[in-house]
Amino acid sequence: MSERNDGLAIESSGLVKTFGALRAVDGVDLAVPAGSVYGVLGPNGAGKTTTVRMLATLLRPDGGEARVFGHDVLREADAVRSRVSLTGQYASVDEDLTGAENLILLARLLGHRKPAARARAAQLLEAFGLTEAADKQVKNYSGGMRRRVDIAASILNTPDLLFLDEPTTGLDPRSRNQVWDIVRAVVAQGTTVLLTTQYLDEADQLADRIAVIDTGRVIAEGTPGELKSSVGAGSVRVRLRDRDQREAAREVLARRLGTEVALDSDPVSLTARLLPEEGTLGPAERAAAALGELAAGGITVDDFALGQPSLDEVFLSLTGKPTRPTPSVGGAPTIDTQRSDQEDQKKETVA
Ligand SMILES: Nc1ncnc2c1ncn2[C@@H]1O[C@H](COP(=O)(O)OP(=O)(O)OP(=O)(O)O)[C@@H](O)[C@H]1O
Ligand SMILES: [Mg+2]
Repeated sequence: MSERNDGLAIESSGLVKTFGALRAVDGVDLAVPAGSVYGVLGPNGAGKTTTVRMLATLLRPDGGEARVFGHDVLREADAVRSRVSLTGQYASVDEDLTGAENLILLARLLGHRKPAARARAAQLLEAFGLTEAADKQVKNYSGGMRRRVDIAASILNTPDLLFLDEPTTGLDPRSRNQVWDIVRAVVAQGTTVLLTTQYLDEADQLADRIAVIDTGRVIAEGTPGELKSSVGAGSVRVRLRDRDQREAAREVLARRLGTEVALDSDPVSLTARLLPEEGTLGPAERAAAALGELAAGGITVDDFALGQPSLDEVFLSLTGKPTRPTPSVGGAPTIDTQRSDQEDQKKETVA
């Protein structure tokens, strides 16, 4: 690993964690610029949580090394802990306490005097849209409210580096958007964020750079644009009124979009991959232009849909194997989350 680099919040090299015969993390190199949002993207069991726990000094690496703001996670664990905070994968604020009580209690544990603890709790509840729910027990919160109070708990003291482990898994779109806004606000205050996610669109929305991990290894790294361009920019699916026009429609789409057009099993439908940013027109604009040409040519389109590249497609393209048996082309940019055995995993907040 290179010598201390002030521009980096996290620098790891050859990081390894084994559980028995399993190499859960198998030589991970990361370089996370300070002040950025860094996405670690991967499916269930890829090694995301294990990696984060090592970087946050909660788990001892079995090999390699890692530095956080230049401090070695093993030899200078206290220095690392003083600068980081972690919101774990599953919320575990005290269910019987109210949102306000949880935050005040944690602020007191962090050494704030009562008035300061109250003020900080009120400020965060307000910022996170939880003022009305402040005096309700957390067990009555929705998943999204829980996630917000959980993140609030991890930034009672503004950390230099915040680990967010799957902050939006299981949340509805509106709650996801709220959490994304919170992440942006945290970053705007100068905190570096390392975020793990199974959602390409989440990494795309938030992250400056992304590492894709699979079976404990980084299999790709780059900006969201670089990553997506490796799999194209999604697809457009068109449903025609008249199946006899399908061949003509295929010709128009292939020419306008410059890609192969697949004929779906539904005899009136066809799907075209979209190429990433090219010249002045983005993929959606090019799809719109192609649809316009269909209409101008007298081909009636009953329905169309634009699909983002899914994590499945990224995986398929990077590894040659799907993340699960049924890859979705142009579907929702997610992969199914199996909560299974980790439901009882607890959240840690590193003070
Ligand atoms: N304490 C442990 N003991 C044994 N095996 C473990 C332990 N923690 C994790 N593993 C295994 O290590 C691998 C990586 O797990 P990890 O939790 O890091 O994955 P993840 O990417 O966070 O997955 P998810 O998206 O499901 O949270 C998995 O196969 C998991 O079963
Ligand atoms: Mg995990």
